[in-house]
Amino acid sequence: MVDKSDIFFGDDPFQIVKRWFKEAVKTEINDPDAIALSTVDTSGMPNVRMVLLREIEAASFVFYTNYGSVKSKEILSNQLAAFVWHSKTLRRQIRVRGHIEKENGLAADQYYQSRSLKSRIGAWASIQSQPLSSKSHLMDQVEFFEEKYGNSPSRPPFWGGWRVKPLEIEFWADGQARLHDRFRWSRQTLEHTWDIQRLNP
Ligand SMILES: Cc1cc2nc3c(=O)[nH]c(=O)nc-3n(C[C@H](O)[C@H](O)[C@H](O)COP(=O)(O)O)c2cc1C
Repeated sequence: MVDKSDIFFGDDPFQIVKRWFKEAVKTEINDPDAIALSTVDTSGMPNVRMVLLREIEAASFVFYTNYGSVKSKEILSNQLAAFVWHSKTLRRQIRVRGHIEKENGLAADQYYQSRSLKSRIGAWASIQSQPLSSKSHLMDQVEFFEEKYGNSPSRPPFWGGWRVKPLEIEFWADGQARLHDRFRWSRQTLEHTWDIQRLNP
């Protein structure tokens, strides 16, 4: 095992991510779980946008979105994605690259139902990433779905989770005089064990 000081300590990178997020919950002013999600379109042009990382599980990271959105179309085109998390307060960064697959089962239902009624209706009303003629048209759509589904909308079939299964996770922490600490966990396939390497800053 590579020599690793306390914040990098552990044999399971998902546990390290969880620990860092837990610390960030206490220090960030909002959205401590916000990540910049990167995808690539069919021409090879990269794309990036923020999403909220809602679940960190034993072997994957899950966020939720509209399956018709640009990001989802790009994900579907090659089933690969990357994301970066940054905490300004902790001065730390986590980078993740890997495979990505749909989470549109029970976990997505449960997460959808845990959201506020307004958010649940909003998911029905927004044709995410498509042009919108006016805000008032969107509000009409909201009203339409409020009337249609009342207090108990079910999860739209076009809305759910994406599960990132990493091949690479890099932990970065700010060091003095820009001599930062970096540890990269990588594996050839999801079935392989992790290799850990300290990297130059
Ligand atoms: C802090 C923050 C968190 C966001 N979280 C989500 C999210 O969890 N899911 C989502 O679909 N969009 C989220 N958004 C909006 C996305 O950044 C983006 O505008 C939207 O998903 C459409 O992206 P696309 O057209 O590339 O698919 C968030 C934006 C910000 C600034």
